Amino acid sequence: MEISQALESAINEQIGIELAASNAYLSMAAYFECNAYDGFSQWMQLQCEEERAHAMKFYQYLIDRGGVVRLPAVDAPEWDFDSVLKVFESSLEQEREVTKHIYGLYKIAQDESDFATVSFLKWFVDEQVEEEKVVTDMIDKLKMAGDRSDSLLLLDRYALEQRAEASGG
Ligand code: FEO
Repeated sequence: MEISQALESAINEQIGIELAASNAYLSMAAYFECNAYDGFSQWMQLQCEEERAHAMKFYQYLIDRGGVVRLPAVDAPEWDFDSVLKVFESSLEQEREVTKHIYGLYKIAQDESDFATVSFLKWFVDEQVEEEKVVTDMIDKLKMAGDRSDSLLLLDRYALEQRAEASGG
C-alpha cells in the first residue's frame, strides 16, 4: 500500500520538527558549556543526537514506503536562557509539542487504516513518555536546588553520570 499524500506531508513536517528539536538541544548544550556546566551540556548534546536519529527514522521510513523526502525550513533555536531551570523547562515544553505532533500523525494513520505507519509510530509514542518523564524528574530536582550553586553543581555531575549511563559509557 502506497503512503498517502497527507501522511507523506505530515511525516516531512515531523522530520523538520525533530531536526528543529535537535538544533534546539545543541543550542542548550552550548549555553551550558559556556556557563561551565559540563554535565548539563553533555546531557543536551546527547539529546541533540537522539533527535537527529529520530528525524532519520522518519526519513528512512518515508523512503521505505515510496514517499518523497522534502525537508522543511527549520527556525533558529533560542540561545539565551535565564537559568538552568529555564533551559529544562523549555526542553519539557519542546517534548510536549513533539508528543502532540506524534499523536496527530498517529491519528491520521489510524483514520487511513495505514497500520504499517501505526505500528511504526508506536515506538515514538513510548519514547515520548520516557523523554517527558526524564526531563520532568530533572525539573523537580532543579526546583529543590533553587539557586544554590553547590546543589546545581551536584546536579550537573548527576546529569553527566546519567548521560554516561544512557550512552553506555
Ligand atoms: Fe524526538 Fe525528544 O522527541
